[in-house]
Parts: sequence; structure tokens; C-alpha cells
Amino acid sequence: INLAVLFGGQSSEHEVSCMSAVNIIDQIDKERYELLLIGITKEGRWLRAESAEEIRSGEWCSSREQAVILPDAVRKSALVSGNGESREFPLDVVFPVLHGLYGEDGTVQGLLELAGIPYVGCGVLASAVSMDKLYTKIVVDKLGIRQARYVGTHRRDLDKMQQIIAEVEFKLGYPVFVKPSCAGSSVGVSKAENREQLERGIRLAAAEDEKILIEEMICGRELECAVLGEEKISASGVGEVLSAAEFYDYEAKYNNPESRTDVSPQLPEGREEEIRQDAMKIFQAVGGSGLARIDFFLDKDGVVFNELNTMPGFTAISMYPMLWESRGLAKKELIERLIRTAFH
Ligand code: DAL
Ligand code: MG
Repeated sequence: INLAVLFGGQSSEHEVSCMSAVNIIDQIDKERYELLLIGITKEGRWLRAESAEEIRSGEWCSSREQAVILPDAVRKSALVSGNGESREFPLDVVFPVLHGLYGEDGTVQGLLELAGIPYVGCGVLASAVSMDKLYTKIVVDKLGIRQARYVGTHRRDLDKMQQIIAEVEFKLGYPVFVKPSCAGSSVGVSKAENREQLERGIRLAAAEDEKILIEEMICGRELECAVLGEEKISASGVGEVLSAAEFYDYEAKYNNPESRTDVSPQLPEGREEEIRQDAMKIFQAVGGSGLARIDFFLDKDGVVFNELNTMPGFTAISMYPMLWESRGLAKKELIERLIRTAFH
């Protein structure tokens, strides 16, 4: 079976994707799958990597071989070229291990739909809806699952900054979190405790995306649930993030060794099951397939939905594989089952 693993990408989560890809490639059964490793540089070039080792070291970025997946649904292949020669590598399945924009947002999924090649994970719509926090809010509102109250705005409305600020102060008060509607690993996210910080936060978020989300701050425990979308949807147990920083942003997640995760936290009676059920409902509502990690808070009034990631991290410290592993599903078996979901 010919399997292409896509990694890297143009998003701010490029490095995370490379780490995720290395961990996934390590677990793929090399007897069963013939691998083509395709790295997308930050500039958007598609290059062939020789091995997981090359991804780990970053050497793949100077690869002389290009590898691009063709949109041609008859050929169903990648074109590999270098040294003045080119050849086709037929593909049976693709694992797009890409986080964030241009990878987890439906764009690459669109290319794979055109190419007619099965791929792991959510399709175009589920990916796009889940990448867009404002849009996800609309879907989750329909389910009646509690989430942080919010105000949405747009880059084109920033000339009416005083009006936006007034709306936030009226509806939410302080403190609030300001987020780009589409971005990952908390890039462009800030906390605002007053007008000045709010205005600055909105401009910061607007640099990442044209849609901006301002949310009330939820003070609670940060809990995450892994969903596996096979013929039936299943949810893992619930894990907890114990962030060393005030919020679990990119720095806290990947560069602060004091951040910890707990895959079997003590929770009040019934909460774990409630989160599992909510996670599966949300996955279904966005039209998910394959996988997603759904993140919640637990505050004094109960469970609050936070966000979902349709291609969650697979780094050594990532919750998605750890949650399954702690329930007896080893990484190798998990990866194999994920690849198989592509053919459903
Ligand atoms: N967006 C990162 C990769 C995660 O949620 O794990
Ligand atoms: Mg994300």
C-alpha cells in the first residue's frame, strides 16, 4: 500500500507538524506501507524527504527532489522530480499530518478530494468549520453545549474600534481572551484586562486572521478528549492539561518543561462521561471523520466547550495519542486504525 505522509506546512505550527510526523512515521508498519514523505516548506514548496531522521534534523528542507500530489483523479499519484528526471509515485492513501492553516483547514483536503485519493482525517467541510473558531461556535450553539460567551468582529471593521470595545464591555466585561478566528497553537491569542489591552489584542489577532473572536474568560480546569471516527465514533477518557503559564499557549505547550498533562485526572462524578458524550456530539455536528481532539474547561458551573483540533498534535507530549495509549490502544495500533479510517 503506497502511503504519502504530508508534513510541515505554511502555518505557524510548521515545527509542531514536523515533530508529529516523526512520531507517526516511527509507528507506521513499514512492511505493509511503502512510504513517500512529502514536506511542505514554510514558503509552500513541496519537497521529498528521505526519512524520519531527515525530518528530525531539518535536512529535508534542502532536498533536491520535489514531490507534489497531482489533482488528476485518473493518475492518483505524486510527481517526484529531481536531477532533470521525473517519475510518478502512485498513491493509495495520504496521511496529512498538517496543523493549522493550509493543512488542517480543508485546503489540502480539497486537493486530495480532487485527486480522488483516500486520506486520514476530516474532510473539507469539517476541517474548515473546525479551524474557524467563530464558525465552530455557531455549530456548538445549536447543540446547546455551553461555551464561553463571545463577540465576533472583522478586520474590515477595525475602524469602528470604539464600537467593538463598547460591545465587548457591555456583553462580556473584562478580562477577555482575544483570538484570531482561524489559527492554531494559540498563535495571536492574548488576554485583555482593560481597553488598551483589548485594542492591542484585537490588532494582534487581526494580523493572523481577518475574523477575530473575543471571549469571556473561563476559569477552570483544562480538559481534553480524543475522538476516533471509525464506522462508529468513539471517545477516549478525558485528560487534563496543567499549564505552567497563565494559559496553555504555544510557549507553554512546547517550550515550557513545567507544563504537564495528566491522562487520568480525578474529576467530579459524571463529568468524564459528560465530556465524552459532548465530544462525540460535537464531532458528529461538524461532520468529523477519522479523528479530532476536543478541548473543554470545567469551571464551578460545569463543562464548557473550548475548541476542537481535527489534526491534533502527535508530538511526544501530545494528548491525543497519550489518551488512547492510557486506555490500552498502543500508538502503533492507533496509527494503523487511523490509516484504515481513510478507506471508510
Ligand atoms: N494544534 C495543535 C497541534 C494541537 O492542538 O495539538
Ligand atoms: Mg489547532
